[in-house]
Formats: sequence, C-alpha cells, structure tokens
Amino acid sequence: MSVDIVTLATRPDLRAAVFADAFRTPLWPEFMLHDVTALLYFGGAFLDRYLDFAFAAVEDGAVVARAFSVPFAFAIPGRTELPDGGWDEVIRWAHDDMAVGRQPTTASALEISLLPAVRGRGIAEEMLAAMKANAGRHGFAELYAPVRPTQKQRQAALPMIDYVRQTRPDGLPADPWLRTHVKAGGEIVKVAPYAMTIVGTLAEWSRWTGMSFPKSGLFEVEGGLVPVYVSCEQDYGVYVEPGVWVRHRIASSPTGRSAAKR
Ligand SMILES: CC(C)(COP(=O)(O)OP(=O)(O)OC[C@H]1O[C@@H](n2cnc3c(N)ncnc32)[C@H](O)[C@@H]1OP(=O)(O)O)[C@@H](O)C(=O)NCCC(=O)NCCS
Repeated sequence: MSVDIVTLATRPDLRAAVFADAFRTPLWPEFMLHDVTALLYFGGAFLDRYLDFAFAAVEDGAVVARAFSVPFAFAIPGRTELPDGGWDEVIRWAHDDMAVGRQPTTASALEISLLPAVRGRGIAEEMLAAMKANAGRHGFAELYAPVRPTQKQRQAALPMIDYVRQTRPDGLPADPWLRTHVKAGGEIVKVAPYAMTIVGTLAEWSRWTGMSFPKSGLFEVEGGLVPVYVSCEQDYGVYVEPGVWVRHRIASSPTGRSAAKR
C-alpha cells in the first residue's frame, strides 16, 4: 500500500508527530541532534517559514516518515558553487535569504527518514520524488541534496572521496543511500568536506556517545561517518562530517502539479 505524502503547510496538525521521539535517537545518533546550525531551520518559529518544504508520509493515519528541504538563492555573487559547508551552509544561506528578503532560486533536500518498520518498501524514493515535484511546483529547475551516505560509518577512516568512488559491478554507488539518489536521476557533483560540524565539551561527547575520551586524538563513534577529533587539553571534541552534493534536475511539468498534496 502506498503512503500519502503531504507537506506540513497543508497538514499543520502533523507537526508534533513529525517531531516525535521516534524520529530522534536511535533513528539518529544522539550527537547528530547537537548541530547548532540546525536551529536556524528547526528552532523556534524558523520552521514556520519552511512548512511548504517539510513533508510527512502518512499510513493508516500515522506519520511513518518525514522529510525536509529548504529553498535558497543560488548562482548569485558569493554563491557560484555548491557550498563546501554542505548541509550547514545551505541552511545558513537560506536563513540569510530570509533575513534580507532575497528570493530563492532553487532548493536543497535536508533529510529523509523512515521509521524502521516501513523501510525497504521504496517509501524513501517516493519521498525524494515528492520533494523534487514540490521544488518543481515552486518553479525550481533542480533539487540539490547534501547526501549523508548511510553506510560510510562502516569505513569511518576512509576519505569521503574514496568512499564515493566505490561502485557495484553495475556502476552504481556501493552506498545504498547514494545509490537511491543516483537511481532517481541524481548526479554526484562533489564532496562537501565540512557538511556538518558538531562541537561539544568532552563531558557532552561522553553523554552523547557513552564513551570516555582518556587522551587527545581521533575517536570513532557509533553512527559517525568520520572520527571525532578530541582535545583533552582544550576540553572539546569536534566532529566534521563530510557529505556528497547530488543534483537532481527536475523535468518541467506543464501543469506545475506536484506529487505532494498542498
Ligand atoms: C536512508 C533511508 C531513508 C532509506 O530508506 P529504506 O527504505 O531503508 O531504503 P530502500 O529500501 O529504498 O533501499 C534502497 C537501497 O538500499 C539497500 N539497503 C537498504 N538498507 C540497507 C542495509 N541496511 N544494508 C545494505 N543495503 C541496504 C536496499 O537493498 C536498496 O538497494 P537497491 O538499490 O539495490 O534496490 C532509511 O534507511 C532511513 O530512514 N534511515 C535513517 C535516516 C537516514 O539515514 N536518512 C538518510 C540521510 S538524510
């Protein structure tokens, strides 16, 4: 059975369910919930600006998946290339656009997440298609995505560029999430070396990971795509997560209609 994909603009009543605990840990490792840049999108009333770019997948009346995207101005002075700062930077760009009243020209995906019970049914692909159709309905010709390859954590020491080059015999990316994007027509543009930066004291990192950090250096943490750099002398840990920019071109629709219901 297919799910119903809607925006929070049309179904504001689903907002609480989209932010229910089921979409936090262990769906995301705890440390991932401490990227301060995320507050510029999700924090306070900021999300109100983006409800037409936030999605819920509903099955039997319950929210089983969620997705977020963000409109931003691209190909303007200072923004001629997709940002090396990936997920964080595109949120900052969008925030800046809002602050100065600059019109967006395109959109970026930020997240697609499914509750474990509904994975393996192609719902992620449907969410991506809904997000693309929605971007098209807003008049955008592309949807970008700073993709977080889901199995990179198994090779945390490997540079992201070498990970991206790992392909299957059919030429598609070995990583399942990157593969989903490429199968959906996405083109890999480049690595974003610092797509997400998460900083905390060693006490915070211990709380987030359940680990202790007895000496300075690199530590692999559960769910981390790369190791965390720890300084015992300075009492902080910093996690700089790379991402992979993917561009989806959107076929123009004469009706401008979207798969996502408004
Ligand atoms: C990433 C996510 C959205 C993918 O949804 P899904 O329903 O699990 O994925 P799909 O069933 O569409 O699988 C896509 C491909 O990955 C493969 N795959 C899925 N889970 C896998 C696993 N644990 N190990 C290996 N391959 C896997 C599938 O076999 C499929 O391969 P194919 O291209 O050969 O058909 C989902 O797992 C999720 O919500 N994860 C947590 C949040 C997250 O990491 N989101 C992505 C970053 S924003």
